[in-house]
Amino acid sequence: MTVEESQLNPIHALYEPYPLTSRYPKDRTPWISSFEQYKAMHDQSINEPDVFWRLRASELVEFDTPFHTVCSGSLGEGNVKWFEGGKLNISYNCVDRWAEKTPDAVAIIYEADQPGGAKSVTYKELLDQVSRVAGVFKSFGLEKGDTVAIYMPMVPEAAITMLACTRLGLVHNVVFAGFSAHSLAERIRDSNAKAVVTSDQGLRGGKIIHNKKIVDEALLTCSSVTKVLVFERTGAEVPMQQGRDVSWSKALSEQNEFVPPVFVDSEDPMFILYTSGSTGKPKGLLHTTAGYLVGVAMTTKYTFDLGKDDVFCCSADIGWITGHSYGVYGPLSLGVTTVIFESVPNYPDASRFWKTVDEHKITQFYTAPTAIRSLRRLGDDFVNCTDLSSLRLIASVGEPINPEAWVWYKSVVGKDLCPVVDTYWQTENGSHLITPLPFATTTKPGSATFPMFGIEPAILDPNTGEELTGPNVKGVLCIKKPWPSIARSILGDHDRYLTTYMHAYKGVYFTGDAARRDEDGYYWISGRVDDVINVSGHRMSTAEIESAIIQNESVAESAVVGIEDEITGQSICAFVTLQAGLKESDQIKKSIIATVRTEIGPIATPKNLILVNELPKTRSGKIIRRILRKVASGEADQLGDLSTMSDPSLLAPLVEKCCRWV
Ligand code: WT7
Repeated sequence: MTVEESQLNPIHALYEPYPLTSRYPKDRTPWISSFEQYKAMHDQSINEPDVFWRLRASELVEFDTPFHTVCSGSLGEGNVKWFEGGKLNISYNCVDRWAEKTPDAVAIIYEADQPGGAKSVTYKELLDQVSRVAGVFKSFGLEKGDTVAIYMPMVPEAAITMLACTRLGLVHNVVFAGFSAHSLAERIRDSNAKAVVTSDQGLRGGKIIHNKKIVDEALLTCSSVTKVLVFERTGAEVPMQQGRDVSWSKALSEQNEFVPPVFVDSEDPMFILYTSGSTGKPKGLLHTTAGYLVGVAMTTKYTFDLGKDDVFCCSADIGWITGHSYGVYGPLSLGVTTVIFESVPNYPDASRFWKTVDEHKITQFYTAPTAIRSLRRLGDDFVNCTDLSSLRLIASVGEPINPEAWVWYKSVVGKDLCPVVDTYWQTENGSHLITPLPFATTTKPGSATFPMFGIEPAILDPNTGEELTGPNVKGVLCIKKPWPSIARSILGDHDRYLTTYMHAYKGVYFTGDAARRDEDGYYWISGRVDDVINVSGHRMSTAEIESAIIQNESVAESAVVGIEDEITGQSICAFVTLQAGLKESDQIKKSIIATVRTEIGPIATPKNLILVNELPKTRSGKIIRRILRKVASGEADQLGDLSTMSDPSLLAPLVEKCCRWV
């Protein structure tokens, strides 16, 4: 591609931070309005972290007892502590203080699965509900430090339950209500939860999910649980075990005393959240109180330029860290409105997100590349039939966003009036690590751009561990200094925490991702290191090849895996879904191969290109490459744990397709 072509091609263009458009409220200025301001604050956060974080903590969080030490410990020793000496309460910070200041402001808008069923909860009402649930927990005999498992649909009551836990210093363990009874039981046992909060049923995309039934089945193997609180989502009749199961509506109506917040130490455990490692047992990441809240409040404010009168919507389920940090704690800690979206992007049709934006006048919208890609595949009409003029910022999280999808998001959804904010981070981090700031950073489609405040990234040579300084380097991504919201441990297995994150490379936190820093200092996350392919000594990331493939106009989505190859070590196998309405043909295959060759070069040519109807995904929408790798390697009989797969019926056609050439 010539220089002229690359400048004309929107996916290679630079997008300057927006001059404030007519959409920006007249009575506000962005929190960070220039790159110089970002630089100055970032420099301070690295060079004088104590000064920087003391300021942020005092600005964003109310402590009942002030802390005496900002930070102690080190990443290498895995003993980081923040804001020691301080006492605070999360639910006080997210609920009470706003219920006092702005009681009638809307805290939560609930967009129910069925369109038209929306409801809102003010801060005053939220406080009442949180206090009631805390009262129910007290009546269960739960005490500070006890764990409560939460297996709930996306309803305000899920957030209310989380906040009621933190009100009493109880540790919540939210399990995505899509996991099987087996996976739920594993997480309940590992966390030794004493109570479970669930609903009779759940509704997603018009389909009923039998939450209570799944909890009942899980509890057959969990002796630690003595109480189950059952929220009536659909009102369906479900079996209630006497002495153990309690009706939400009945128990809450019996509460008539206000339950005050219990102030806990900064480093007291706040929640556990399980995340799957690429192999083996899920890891229960342990997050603690003050550092998590300061990190989340700070990033929510600056990354999304969130403030007064904003209506923020993060479409992630509360079962994931994104739902915790940006669906619940971030926006509520700032006293703004958060939208809890119970449905799916294509129910009843592919306009659902955008109709929701219009209905609630959402100002910032945060979703995942997988949703963006699948909606793009269905065509622009579903977007163009809506207004979307309330939107001021659109954001992405979860995996590398292909430049094609980025540009579509920006132009079709954002109408070229909203900055696109691609946030890179992980369950382990609690809050954003690398992200543009909407009114300060010039963006490049596909790059998460620059480090957040307090984050000092390093790119290391994966083999020697040596730091690669300077521009135009590729390697493994590590973080050099502790930040407040980093997980402190893996529950019950601190050694695994140390080996996975802290001892892989000396003295730094290892993300498990590969990244490139380009000539302008921009970070490009290429994906997990375990997804790196090495073909004849050429290292390539699957994401890089996928990104090339998706530039072909016939392609909707692709997943690339490396498989064993006698001659070249590994070879590239690409799975591809086509845009709606297209049929598989040799010509399409040839044109996809040609695209890859022109985009990356002949070394990236897939040895096998398999066109499929759907890719296997987790319930959170991540492509499960492990399955594709096994199927492509002719090992479909050794697929291992499939509990996270959203639609297991995809397997048979996939295997059948691959058998034709394996
Ligand atoms: C992994 C973490 C906390 C976010 C939700 C997922 C990938 C996440 C990006 C991004 C490129 C990304 C990484 C990371 N990832 N966001 N913006 N660009 N990659 O959290 O389940 O803990 O997954 O998701 O590979 O390591 P998670």
